[in-house]
Amino acid sequence: MLAYTVYSEAGGVGKTTLAANLAKAEERAGNDVLLIDLDTQEASLSHLLDVAGDRNDKEADSLLRHMIDRPRGPFEDLVKTSEGMDIIPAHNILEYASKHLQRRAEEASDFGESFNPNKQLLRVLRGAGVNEAYDTLIIDPPASPDIKLHNAIHATRHLVIPFEPSGKGYESVQGLDDIVGGLEENLDIEVGVLAIVPNRYEGLNTQEQFLGELRDEGWAVPVTFRKRSSLLEGCWHQQCTAFRYIDEHRDRDRDHELDTLEKFDELAEYIRRQKEVPA
Ligand SMILES: Nc1ncnc2c1ncn2[C@@H]1O[C@H](COP(=O)(O)OP(=O)(O)OP(=O)(O)O)[C@@H](O)[C@H]1O
Ligand SMILES: [Mg+2]
Repeated sequence: MLAYTVYSEAGGVGKTTLAANLAKAEERAGNDVLLIDLDTQEASLSHLLDVAGDRNDKEADSLLRHMIDRPRGPFEDLVKTSEGMDIIPAHNILEYASKHLQRRAEEASDFGESFNPNKQLLRVLRGAGVNEAYDTLIIDPPASPDIKLHNAIHATRHLVIPFEPSGKGYESVQGLDDIVGGLEENLDIEVGVLAIVPNRYEGLNTQEQFLGELRDEGWAVPVTFRKRSSLLEGCWHQQCTAFRYIDEHRDRDRDHELDTLEKFDELAEYIRRQKEVPA
């Protein structure tokens, strides 16, 4: 199974947009896809793909319940579907993931059991046979580097990193080695960066130069995305991927928008090929 977390240190750079559309590109390529939303913000993947449901219902089953050994039902019942993809929506209780996972770890420790709070998503996914049931797993974590991100990384071990090629975005990408190194040390595993993805690229000389430097340093920068506000805002409005948006909500094709779809397909394929080659 191909698995990755769409991660960025900065907020609002296009993680959720990228996760949804890469997943759709995988589905279009004939793969069985599972998406997991770990972000409790309103403007989340669950909202974008219109599977949010009642995320406040305390009694409802949720992924976190499974992670702390208090499931209310089978794993399969957590899964919703949208545009041919399976997705586990975020539940608001995830905001307290750290507290509940730490508590469970303390309890386990008192009873002489082992319980790594960072590896519970991995445990749940393994137990549910996700590895065998799906071709592709994509996780959309919150921007803050907390226990949910750690669980996402343990479960996927690979990152796809969007960033905005300007000021702050440059800084965060220049610090990537440290960030990835820090995560590896913290979690005691290897973490692979499958691609870094410039978003809202405008073709400026300074941007071009910066991307050149990144490639020289050995980062994979296979595809850049231009600013496509009308298309991507439209997706949030209609709650769908860019593929469905153009299919159902545009009465004529716009070449630059079709070009964006091609880039999602191209990036998904590039990432797939990266994983096929043993490191
Ligand atoms: N290439 C682009 N051109 C124009 N707008 C874009 C582009 N990519 C994303 N956006 C818009 O930017 C906003 C933020 O995108 P998105 O929610 O995907 O980012 P995010 O990194 O998931 O944010 P957060 O950190 O809040 O989770 C959205 O309104 C989205 O439509
Ligand atoms: Mg997001």
